[in-house]
Amino acid sequence: MEKIIIVDYGSQYTRLIARRVRENHVFSEVVSPQSTLPPGEIKGIILSGGPESVYEESAGKIPVWFDQIKGSIPVLGVCYGFQLIIHHLKGVVEHTGKSEYGRTNMHLNGKTTFFNGCPSSFITWMSHGDSVTRLPHGFEKTAQTDSGIISAAENEQLSLYGIQFHPEVKHTEYGETIISNFLFEQCGCKASWSLEDFAEQKIKEIREYVGNKQVISGFSGGVDSSVASVLVHKAIGDNLTNIFVDHGLLRKDEEIEVPVVFKRALGLKFRLVHAKDEFFNELAGVIDPEQKRKIIGEKFIRVFEREASEIGNADFLVQGTIYSDVIESAGTKTGKTAKIKSHHNVGGLPEDMKMSLIEPLRDLFKDEVRKIGEILGIPDHIVHRQPFPGPGLAVRCLGEITDEKINILKEADYIFREVLREAQWLEKAWQSFAVILPVRSVGVVGDRRSYGYTVALRSVDSVEAMTADWSRIPHELLDEASRRITNSVKEVGRVVYDITSKPPGTIEWE
Ligand code: XMP
Repeated sequence: MEKIIIVDYGSQYTRLIARRVRENHVFSEVVSPQSTLPPGEIKGIILSGGPESVYEESAGKIPVWFDQIKGSIPVLGVCYGFQLIIHHLKGVVEHTGKSEYGRTNMHLNGKTTFFNGCPSSFITWMSHGDSVTRLPHGFEKTAQTDSGIISAAENEQLSLYGIQFHPEVKHTEYGETIISNFLFEQCGCKASWSLEDFAEQKIKEIREYVGNKQVISGFSGGVDSSVASVLVHKAIGDNLTNIFVDHGLLRKDEEIEVPVVFKRALGLKFRLVHAKDEFFNELAGVIDPEQKRKIIGEKFIRVFEREASEIGNADFLVQGTIYSDVIESAGTKTGKTAKIKSHHNVGGLPEDMKMSLIEPLRDLFKDEVRKIGEILGIPDHIVHRQPFPGPGLAVRCLGEITDEKINILKEADYIFREVLREAQWLEKAWQSFAVILPVRSVGVVGDRRSYGYTVALRSVDSVEAMTADWSRIPHELLDEASRRITNSVKEVGRVVYDITSKPPGTIEWE
């Protein structure tokens, strides 16, 4: 299968490049700078951006195979990748003191097929401190910015291309044109890959990898674990057992509904494990969010290991990890991306785990996962469910987790989501939920003083959870939710609506 290889130097945007390539129906694979070239028909290589300077000791280096493929496979360097090519070929990269961040106007110098279809000047998205100041022999400057900084260059004979801006972000005008030019003009790709192929390929790989061994899946009822389980089920049938853990941190009534609904809809084999006391005992008194995540990640694995031995020593554990979990837990192949939080199925796993992981969706964004779900024939109401985090309500119950707070949270969350569901707002949002705060405030109820909990309502719109904006829910609906919550959950004294985007906030509160 023909493919484009993306070498990851740690930019938050690396996966966006992979995704833009796939949107052109060309398969893309992300590798680390140290890895060997993967097998397959490699049509082109993209060196990603990254946070470092080529002069830093720890900076990602040019791959050892670069000089061997130079001239035979087209290479595109983006931002840091561009500087790395130039530095490697004895051009000059300098810290000139002239940084460029954000929207930057760029001017083309003349004709190159690389910029086919682009006007002579357009807006690009930059994020760099160092700049290329002298090009190596054989290179030509093809564009510069308003401040005269070289923003694109190429050596057509060696099929080497470099751009200082990020074509993968939507803020770069003609970014899509530039990427598709590289794929089809420079690399000669054929646009023959699809998510259908990806699903088929994964099923084949899993079948070969697992053979006739037993596998368990950590099933949460969310889109990711459902799609991962169905994919593995297609590969190995009933050698897969889905473990649904009731850790007491599920949404209201889910421990009853999920196994029934999903067994019926997906035809999967389930085991329901009641483990609330185990989880709550470990979490008692813990208030640090990272510690909570670690405890839950560890506890999950211990439960899975116990179940694995009960069903006859399963060797593999399926998890619905997707790429945003990987990025934000700093689990990219370089490990250079900044850590935001330990998503429980990436950063929170114990090191001595006995089973091998199967994570078929690790390279995909949520909307790609949903498309795979549709391809596999999973019903719409499951594929388009709002995401729910593995650590469940634990990351929405700030401070210590107690029975009292979790019960209040379940009720308030249920009411908020019901109000949105009735008004057909639930399906419009990426996620909508309640959060309980560890502070109380004074109020007045029936002429008496009250001293109740504060509940924050959060609803966000997003495409892939990397960025998000708060949902513009009509005031009447917020009013309805607030009144219903304070009327029926007597411990709640105050309801607030969270109007923070991501960044600077995250979607969950912990
Ligand atoms: P944040 O809060 O980091 O969340 O903006 C981004 C998306 O990921 C979900 N999330 C998780 N999913 N395990 C998961 O499977 C986790 O530990 C986890 N933490 C957050 C979150 O609900 C949002 O959709």
